[in-house]
Amino acid sequence: MRYKIIAGNWKMNTTPKEGVDLVTEVLELIKSTDLTGTKIVFGTPFVSLLAVAESVGNTPGVYVASQNISSYDGGAYTGETSANMISACGAKMAIIGHSERREYFHETNAILATKADKAIGSDLTPIYCCGEVLADRKNDSYQTVIQSQIEEGLFHLSAEDFANVVIAYEPVWAIGTGETASPEQAQAVHAFIRNLVKSKYGAEIAENVSILYGGSMKPTNAKELIGMPDIDGGLIGGASLKAADFVGIINAI
Ligand code: 13P
Repeated sequence: MRYKIIAGNWKMNTTPKEGVDLVTEVLELIKSTDLTGTKIVFGTPFVSLLAVAESVGNTPGVYVASQNISSYDGGAYTGETSANMISACGAKMAIIGHSERREYFHETNAILATKADKAIGSDLTPIYCCGEVLADRKNDSYQTVIQSQIEEGLFHLSAEDFANVVIAYEPVWAIGTGETASPEQAQAVHAFIRNLVKSKYGAEIAENVSILYGGSMKPTNAKELIGMPDIDGGLIGGASLKAADFVGIINAI
């Protein structure tokens, strides 16, 4: 089923206590909201996963995600956190391939393909990020870039496994810059991605995959973006750190 998803990516912000406070405030604000067909996701730092998952408990429609996972299963990999550990903390999803991971930590599509496998192997839904940098947009190569990110990172998956994937399109030039892709620009890329999925996995899986937009989404622009036919929600950085802003975006669905 194609869900609307509003996912916060807290990045390297919040202590466990601050995270719990933030989630408690959001849950209080949405306690009378009808979340049918919708998923709300909190993408927390590793150290907050357990505490935040405990605060979320079994609240219907609300999930916790990590922001990364190791491409290894376990053992002598100092500083790494495995998919299994993340799942054991109560997370149900994992953000994979965020542009900050690609840029600062040199994660390639090949590494991300392994991470997608690890996530699925531990029952975590991958939220797989793709998106072009400004130069790709300016020289009109953005479709090629996005196509290889998707094909090389995800298209090795079986149809059954791919059916569990969420995709997030985050144009790098719109992240944390206050500059948003216009609803038309974003819609065009989302339709392009859905079409790629259709050519590989067929119409039914393409219709059901949720494709989120990320990049300076706020309560003021969320409605227009999420109103586009192929935009199924948002992956939100800055505005997910303030309960009122995050809830403002949830209410825009
Ligand atoms: P901003 O919402 O702060 O632009 O960040 C978007 C993002 O990177 C979400 O993953």
